[in-house]
Amino acid sequence: MKVLVIGNGGREHAIAWKLLQSPKVKRVLCIPGNGGTASLEGCQTIPMRTDDFESIARLVLVQGIALVVIGPELPLAKGLVDYLRNQNIKVFGPTKAGAQLEASKAWAKELMAEAGIVTARSALFVNPDAARDYIKQQGAPIVVKADGLAAGKGVTVAMTEQEALEAIASLWAAGHRELLVEEYLTGQEVSVLAVTDGISVRPLLPAQDHKQIGEGDTGPNTGGMGAYAPTPLVSAELLQTIEREILQPTVATLQKRGIDYRGVIYAGLMIAPDGTAKVLEFNCRFGDPETQAILPLLETRLDDLLFACVEQRLAEFPPLEWRSGTAVCVVAASEGYPGDYKRGNPISGVEEAEASGAVVFHAGTKKQGGKLIADGGRVLNVTAVGETFESAIASAYQAMNCIEFDGIYYRKDIGYRIR
Ligand code: AMP
Ligand code: GLY
Repeated sequence: MKVLVIGNGGREHAIAWKLLQSPKVKRVLCIPGNGGTASLEGCQTIPMRTDDFESIARLVLVQGIALVVIGPELPLAKGLVDYLRNQNIKVFGPTKAGAQLEASKAWAKELMAEAGIVTARSALFVNPDAARDYIKQQGAPIVVKADGLAAGKGVTVAMTEQEALEAIASLWAAGHRELLVEEYLTGQEVSVLAVTDGISVRPLLPAQDHKQIGEGDTGPNTGGMGAYAPTPLVSAELLQTIEREILQPTVATLQKRGIDYRGVIYAGLMIAPDGTAKVLEFNCRFGDPETQAILPLLETRLDDLLFACVEQRLAEFPPLEWRSGTAVCVVAASEGYPGDYKRGNPISGVEEAEASGAVVFHAGTKKQGGKLIADGGRVLNVTAVGETFESAIASAYQAMNCIEFDGIYYRKDIGYRIR
């Protein structure tokens, strides 16, 4: 069968790569893909816009595609799933209504309140003066968030009252009209991704990512500079608690609201020093780069699992199988990211890195005249699996040493928090 993957990041390269390991998947098509999906055997990369729903649907019908898997949040929030499902196309991902879990933080907070899920205390403001008064009354540290999708730029963790007030002013100036002010939580963040068919839910291995650009988790936030799974921070017992107290109530409440959610629920959690988990945010899709660390450990066939969700058979699906060990993904970025950076530098060493046993998932790359060039802020995701956490980290960095391009930057301390 043929599967269509929508998106152009390391996450989508990893999804395509994993799908192609199944003997049932003969071909993966990827829109718009990247240099990695273009180099992947069995994968065809198609330069089509992800907001051109009509052309996507036509391609699915003409090519006889059995399943569509959507990577990024934007096409989900814009209703691509609704559009395709209306034409009886099987698609893994939530509808527009379900995607509000990520696309509106206020909506997600309300759902959590209804479901009785523990999350940071928060208040929603449509008036900046009221938000300012609330901040003065609460004091710092405090967190300010834009309600809608802001490509990772909508959150300020303010250590001082002044910073919080400035965040309100700049969000308002940028046109955000719904502002969330939230209690500051301390602890370590983990990403628990789960798949659901809208009725039952199955957590994947718990992961952690490093969001900040600088070593020691300093500097501006990025899309993610590295990830690993499973994280020892979430024990089997804690994962069960998270499933029972967070994931299942979320699915049940979505269902109660008449939302048919067949896709990923990604719970971004803060694990407090006492070991309890609170929700920081939900995403309505696979995490990037967490997926690049999770999928290499999955032994269950990904197509089987995704079909079980789309066809609402998840309750009968056998337990997920995972290989032992840990996977670590280190992101190579272009100098200047998450600010301005150069495109077009030739990349070398990917084959050598893979010959050393790692898998290199591409993010911002493209093939130009047969050559691979850097074409984004995050360029490559070098992923290695090891029996121990230490050996996985060592292999990932050994592979990274093979890779060169002008302006390459990567963090040397991925995983330091749990070593
Ligand atoms: P979000 O997009 O809501 O996940 O926020 C982006 C990042 O800001 C998170 O990954 C956290 O590092 C941080 N953050 C968000 N909410 C809080 C909070 N209530 N307390 C502390 N840090 C937070
Ligand atoms: N790694 C963070 C995210 O996917 O949102």
